[in-house]
Amino acid sequence: MNQTSTGAVGRPAGPIGSAEPVLQAVGLVKRYGNVTALGGADLELYPGEILAVIGDNGAGKSSLIKALSGAIVPDAGEILVEGRPVRLPTPIAAREAGIETVHQSLAVSPSLDIATNLFLGRELRRPGVLGSVFRMLDRSRMRSEAARHLSELGIKTIQNPNQAVETLSGGQRQAVAVARAAAFGNRVVIMDEPTAALGVRESRAVLDLILRVRDSGLPVILISHNMPHVFEVADRVHVQRLGRRVATLDPSGCSMSDAVAVMTGALDPAELPAGALAPAYS
Ligand SMILES: Nc1ncnc2c1ncn2[C@@H]1O[C@H](COP(=O)(O)OP(=O)(O)OP(=O)(O)O)[C@@H](O)[C@H]1O
Ligand SMILES: [Mg+2]
Repeated sequence: MNQTSTGAVGRPAGPIGSAEPVLQAVGLVKRYGNVTALGGADLELYPGEILAVIGDNGAGKSSLIKALSGAIVPDAGEILVEGRPVRLPTPIAAREAGIETVHQSLAVSPSLDIATNLFLGRELRRPGVLGSVFRMLDRSRMRSEAARHLSELGIKTIQNPNQAVETLSGGQRQAVAVARAAAFGNRVVIMDEPTAALGVRESRAVLDLILRVRDSGLPVILISHNMPHVFEVADRVHVQRLGRRVATLDPSGCSMSDAVAVMTGALDPAELPAGALAPAYS
């Protein structure tokens, strides 16, 4: 059960079902030869929520997230941002649509410093011709902006944005990846297994960070195998199974063991107790 009840802050005022999804997937299909990674997958993300995505290995969670982040192009189906159909042929297109993603394989460059990692691909240039013609980087502004982003997210353990990422702990590295997504995502932040490689304390810090990202107004999609983490932070839980969504659960009305049973196919969602399904699921 969702005993810590983190849902109150930052949630939409009205019932979730009455708001328009910020991000929506309808009937996404992705096949690799004979393997069906997505077999008609749907998803809705509403303003102000943390939507967890759970599912067994191979259920299509990463494939779904890759489609929403422009890393793969689905064979069929539609993606809508704030109700408008979009094409996301590349990760850049997804970023331009306001969708930032922290992928399962952590995408930070270990030998570069934190500030450079934060601005990778979006470097700030010096003002005037130095920047526009000579393409000179504005390192001091990147450092100060990096420090501001880290402190805004309450990342206090990183003292020096000039530190190389390889000298950081696993949790701190993850925090940098999350900070980057939160700094540049203006509609949605997606995180694929952000706590999978972390210890208890580091996981705690990343979970707190995810809550802060949501409370700052950015809805979050969180893919995780860790049921206690999911039940602690999620407002709704999308269950992916064999390439499709089979249910969206309300973690305050559903037990972890029921969620796992639906995820593995041991329990038909129709057999769930009243209140276990989230309102937006139809
Ligand atoms: N590039 C690819 N080529 C071939 N098959 C793929 C490819 N990517 C994914 N698949 C297959 O698609 C299915 C879904 O994979 P996906 O990575 O989306 O699962 P997942 O739910 O993220 O699993 P995990 O929990 O292990 O991360 C799997 O059967 C996988 O083998
Ligand atoms: Mg995966």
